[in-house]
Order: sequence, then structure tokens, then C-alpha cells
Amino acid sequence: MKIAVVGKGGSGKTTLAGTLARVLAKRNQRILAIDGDPNPNLALTLGVSRARAEGIRNIPANLVEAEQSPEGAYRLRLIRTKEDVIGEFGTAAPDGIKLIVMGKPPDGSAGSGCMCASHRAVRGLITELSGSQDHTVTDMEAGLEHLKRGTARNVEAMLVVVEPYYRSLEAGSRTFSLARELGIPHLYAVSNKVRDDADRSAIEAYCAQHKMALIAEVPFEADFEKAERTEQAPFDYAPDSAGVRAVEKIADRLAALSPTT
Ligand SMILES: Nc1ncnc2c1ncn2[C@@H]1O[C@H](COP(=O)(O)OP(=O)(O)OP(=O)(O)O)[C@@H](O)[C@H]1O
Ligand SMILES: [Mg+2]
Repeated sequence: MKIAVVGKGGSGKTTLAGTLARVLAKRNQRILAIDGDPNPNLALTLGVSRARAEGIRNIPANLVEAEQSPEGAYRLRLIRTKEDVIGEFGTAAPDGIKLIVMGKPPDGSAGSGCMCASHRAVRGLITELSGSQDHTVTDMEAGLEHLKRGTARNVEAMLVVVEPYYRSLEAGSRTFSLARELGIPHLYAVSNKVRDDADRSAIEAYCAQHKMALIAEVPFEADFEKAERTEQAPFDYAPDSAGVRAVEKIADRLAALSPTT
């Protein structure tokens, strides 16, 4: 299944994507983790050391080409085989995970503002590379650009991370609308950093009102912050924490979904 984790800046996308990838990999699933954020940091939450993370080669955006069919429809195509791409650009992460980092587009000079090439490459890669593994887990860039551009169109399960405050929930609701337009089959909210019953009821009420299906609740987890401070993956630092157990519930729920392809 092609899984993408989206949400507002700082909501916990990278923490949850890295931990979910580790949880699935521990269950003997072959995982391709894709860091689709131009400021990449998924490596650390997967358990790749900072020193190794700094040496990772980004995927060049020009590995993906747009091809037009005789009917005029565009399709993205990798110009190398996926085995080649994963072999050359994939970084080994714990539990057999392969990590691919999109990085900044080559034309991403300050002020140019155009991320088109990079967005196109993420979209192409999600489609093209996923067949070689059981699941892809993509950590998306904050904001809605990837949805507006259709980058996320090929995703099968989208997890929208929301925090218990109004602007985060509002952003979540806008994300749901765009994702519905793209026709993403499995669309879920994940509440993160929930501290108490007041947080829980605020999120549950908002989600019910806006028809956002809540897949799991991740508590505010002090161990996630400690893991970050000591540059360890949450999964390694605190495998039995309530936070990691909540991510295990997400994995259980995803495993129970019927395949869409
Ligand atoms: N459940 C949680 N409990 C406590 N802290 C958390 C939790 N989830 C994430 N955090 C912390 O929140 C901060 C932001 O998390 P993270 O980097 O995963 O968010 P992000 O959505 O990927 O951010 P960005 O938009 O910058 O990429 C980090 O310091 C992380 O350790
Ligand atoms: Mg992030």
C-alpha cells in the first residue's frame, strides 16, 4: 500500500512516518520510506545516524519524465529501472527499510519558489517505485501544495496529522477536501500530541462534524522529544512507550484495509 503522511508544519508527520515505517518493517513488511520534504529529516526518525543522513544523495528530479499517450494524457515515467534507482539512491535504514530522499530541486535556488520538478518527481516515484516493496511510507512536505499539484494523487492511504487546536484542525479539514477531490481511497485523520480529555473531545467533535475519519490517537509523548534530543528514532528510544503503541494501532488499522489495486 502507498501510504502518505501529511499535515501542518510541526504536527508530527516525520515522527509518525518514521515510526510507522519501523513498526511495519518489524512486522516483516518490506518498506520503502520516501522523504518528500525539501528539508529532509525522515532519516533520523527511522534510526539512521545524523552522520550517515548527511551523506545521503538526493534523487535528481530529472529521473522522472512526463510522457504523453496518443490520447493526450500525461503519465510520469522513471527513466531508469526502479531497481537501479533504489540501488543507487536508496539508503539502508534499520529493519531492512530502504530510504529515498527527494531533497531540494536542482533549480530550487532561493526565491525561485518553483518546486514543480521536485513535486513531479515525488509523484512519479510514489507510483513507480512502490511496486518493488510491500509498502511505501512517504513523509510529505507541510502544507497543501502537493495536493493542489496532484503530487499525492497516487497515494492509497493518506494520514492527515492534526493537533488539538483549531488552526491545525482547520488545515486538516482543507486537506481532507482536496484529498477527496483527488479521489484518494483511504483518507484518515491521526490526532497527535493529545494531552487530556479536553484535547480528545475537541478533536473528536471537530472530526465528527467535518466527516473526518479518525484512525488513531497519538498521545503527547515526552519520549518522542527525548528521542529527538538524543538523535535516536522514537522506535529505538522508547519501543514500549504509549506513543509507539499508538502508531502500532495505526499499522493494525491499515493492515485491515482492503487493497485498492
Ligand atoms: N506525540 C508527540 N508528543 C510529543 N512531541 C511530539 C509528538 N509528535 C511529534 N512531536 C515533536 O514535535 C516536533 C515536530 O515533529 P515533526 O518534526 O515530526 O513534525 P513535522 O510535521 O514533520 O514538522 P515539519 O512540518 O517541520 O516537517 C518534534 O520536536 C517532535 O519530537
Ligand atoms: Mg517533517
